[in-house]
Amino acid sequence: MADNKATAHAQSNIAFIKYWGNRDDRLRLPVSGSLSMNLDGLTTTTTVTFDEALAEDEITIGGVLATGNAAARVSDFLDQVRHRAAHELKARVQSENNFPTGAGIASSASAFAALALAASRALGLDLSEPQLSALARLGSGSASRSVPGGYVEWYVGDSHETSYAESFAPAEHWDLVDCVAIVSTRHKETGSTEGHAIAQTSPLQAARVQGAAVRIATCKEAILMRDFTKFADVVELDSTVMHSVMMTGTPPLFYWQPATLTVMEQVRRWRAGGLPVCYTIDAGANVHCICLSSDVDEVETRLRDLDGVNNVLRAAAGGPARIV
Ligand code: DP6
Repeated sequence: MADNKATAHAQSNIAFIKYWGNRDDRLRLPVSGSLSMNLDGLTTTTTVTFDEALAEDEITIGGVLATGNAAARVSDFLDQVRHRAAHELKARVQSENNFPTGAGIASSASAFAALALAASRALGLDLSEPQLSALARLGSGSASRSVPGGYVEWYVGDSHETSYAESFAPAEHWDLVDCVAIVSTRHKETGSTEGHAIAQTSPLQAARVQGAAVRIATCKEAILMRDFTKFADVVELDSTVMHSVMMTGTPPLFYWQPATLTVMEQVRRWRAGGLPVCYTIDAGANVHCICLSSDVDEVETRLRDLDGVNNVLRAAAGGPARIV
């Protein structure tokens, strides 16, 4: 683009089969593949302007100038894009989330997917979707999955080029909805990047990794067949397997709070009573409850009735990252 400027939208995603632990922390090459759904409406919008008047990158997130580690992470990522485009200009980055931070929705996924697309376009790089997904992965692993649309698999790969995400079904394929039960808005938990770095200290990580390919295949088949029972079993299993690794590492990471367990127990009970709903939990206390769009009002009402649930956010399956 002649004016060195571009704006992109990207959506967050929820992993049904989780990413936890890297083979290469710097390149964010994961130890196992993962599977997710993009979250419609939970969007980051990012404008990147490369400008010769700038001596340093200038990054604002939600109108606030980023400093320290947050700014360094974005600048390091921009270096990767500059390197690929053989450019040296510094950039102004303006990024906004339309969902509350600290609400248990991963913002790094949508943030780095939007940044990868906006920055690469602003410098005139014409990347294929797999190349863009691999680039986004360097900023945040889960961001690789926010580049393609709908239901997505991130391939474990064995190199930068081969570890990218691809859609295996469009958003319209199955009308799943993520109802996020917010039980905590604390932001003090150990972040994912730190968590990935200690995953291998858990004696259970080897077993998690060993079973990941089978869980991915099972989950993918369940989605393709729209088989909710099969889907629910493998999604809940995979979440609990990841949390078992978290809880048994050095240092151990306990993300669940009492209200997390309340929601988990009730969701299992509702499913046993005939309501198709299941849960999955990321590196936080909030519970992502996955259901069919026809049941979303019922699920939200039941969640709001539970002690310790402060709010419920909803997101249907969403589309790919795109230039605005
Ligand atoms: C628990 O992608 O946030 O949400 O690569 O360090 O940014 P970084 O980690 P991140 O890890 C996501 C971890 C997870 C599971 C998942 O989304 O697959």
